[in-house]
Amino acid sequence: VQKMILDVDTGIDDAMAIAYAVADPAVELIGVISSFGNIEADRAAANALRILNLVGAPDVPVFVGHRNPLDHEYNRLPINAQIHGDNGIGDVQLPTPNQAVATQNGVDFLLAAAQQYGKDLTIVATGPMTNLAAALTKAPEVMQQVGNITIMGGALTVPGNVTPVAEANVEQDPVAANQLFTSGLPITMVGLDVTLRTLLTKDETAQWRTTEAGTKMADIVDYYINVYADIYPELGGCSLHDPLAVGVAIDPSFVETISLNMLVTTEHDPYYARTIGDKARLNAPNPNVKVAVAVDIDRYLAVFMHHFNHLFR
Ligand code: BDR
Ligand code: CA
Repeated sequence: VQKMILDVDTGIDDAMAIAYAVADPAVELIGVISSFGNIEADRAAANALRILNLVGAPDVPVFVGHRNPLDHEYNRLPINAQIHGDNGIGDVQLPTPNQAVATQNGVDFLLAAAQQYGKDLTIVATGPMTNLAAALTKAPEVMQQVGNITIMGGALTVPGNVTPVAEANVEQDPVAANQLFTSGLPITMVGLDVTLRTLLTKDETAQWRTTEAGTKMADIVDYYINVYADIYPELGGCSLHDPLAVGVAIDPSFVETISLNMLVTTEHDPYYARTIGDKARLNAPNPNVKVAVAVDIDRYLAVFMHHFNHLFR
């Protein structure tokens, strides 16, 4: 069983990522760390606890990570409550869990787990990469032992979703993303190139409405589906950004990747926060970033629905 830590900015699709990791028997979710992003880091942690409670995993510990990006100089785009709702989870009210957010710092928890489990640990980050960059700065030799780092973020072959070149998780902290990408660590990038292709509709969420918990989850995700219908009517559903990253971390054969030495542009110009191949290292050996460029949509959706139908039956 694969040990996994999720680093989330809960967020509706982050909530689905948590549910997917709980549902897949191939994974033991050993902890969840929060970052700022879709919502403030403290709220993201509180939301993660509520979602864990909802999907029957109340004992998974939740830690707060960084509350701000590394690039304090730059006034990033404001948090857009329109996409995930004022509370981050579609303005659906979930009961307050019995458990509290852990007191240990998220980055310290991450490093302790990396130390303990080494190559048996998988980290999936579905928010800004600030916690990963902080862990790298603090103990690069410990991070080097981690088996698998998969991120939802970036856009290589398609436009960004917050600027013509920038994807949200990268745009929230490009300095951190660049630090991670250029670290040499083995990274799988599950970006908009593939996540814009895995879509969910109300036909699917309706299937969860057989239980109270499933109905809450369907209400949360339907909020996102409605937002997507307004903002991206051409897609015909909401993107499964974050749960696709979890799926790929568990079963890499869901996607086809190309290997590249990448960087993230951090100059404060119109190309800010672009994920792109590093011109200076085009021919450098052993490129460390596997960029997902194609996805087995039908098989992924079938597995996704299998897990969710199992949670809510
Ligand atoms: C990413 O940005 C966030 O809004 C989503 O949760 C996802 O992680 C998509 O660009
Ligand atoms: Ca997210």
